[in-house]
Amino acid sequence: MNQAVERILISQEEIDAITTRLAAEIDRDYKDSDKRLVLLCVLKGSLVFTGDLMKKLTVPVEIDCMKVSSYGSSTESSGSVHIQLDLVRPDLPDCDVLIIEDIVDSGNTLTFLTNYLKAKGANSVKTCTLLDKPSRRRVPFEPDYRGVEIPDEFVIGYGLDYDERFRALPYIGILKPEVYGG
Ligand code: PRP
Repeated sequence: MNQAVERILISQEEIDAITTRLAAEIDRDYKDSDKRLVLLCVLKGSLVFTGDLMKKLTVPVEIDCMKVSSYGSSTESSGSVHIQLDLVRPDLPDCDVLIIEDIVDSGNTLTFLTNYLKAKGANSVKTCTLLDKPSRRRVPFEPDYRGVEIPDEFVIGYGLDYDERFRALPYIGILKPEVYGG
């Protein structure tokens, strides 16, 4: 185990089971749609989750990416969301967009992105998150597909970082407080 990790919160095997369940739910809901299903990976944290989830889907999917900033400092969410990499595709009215997130915290990012993509004309916009921290909500938000609820701990791995480190860990771990000065 990485020395910065206090304990493993969700193992590789558990992540695999969660993504398998989510993929089955998504397959079930989109299999009869005649629109293009676009998995929208929200960089950078959902990169690993998106890659694993797409491999488990049987419905045809396309991939796109956006990058937004939400965390003002390393451990706290800022209220505002800024687009750093936009989605540019003129066929959004023909697309069912499924936004893929690693984690929902305050809810600011997915509230913003859902409204933004609807305003840009997407046929439909839904959200899928691996992790959900409902205790941290600042705006009411419910993901359409939720992997697992987690407590208010600083989690890293499987795409999630602390100061750009630990994204490559294959599990979700709790960061030792001394690493971030907590
Ligand atoms: C994290 C995470 C979500 C967002 C969730 O991204 O990946 O996108 O914050 O927080 P919210 O619900 O409070 O909006 P971050 O800004 O840390 O960027 P990263 O994915 O590049 O690490």
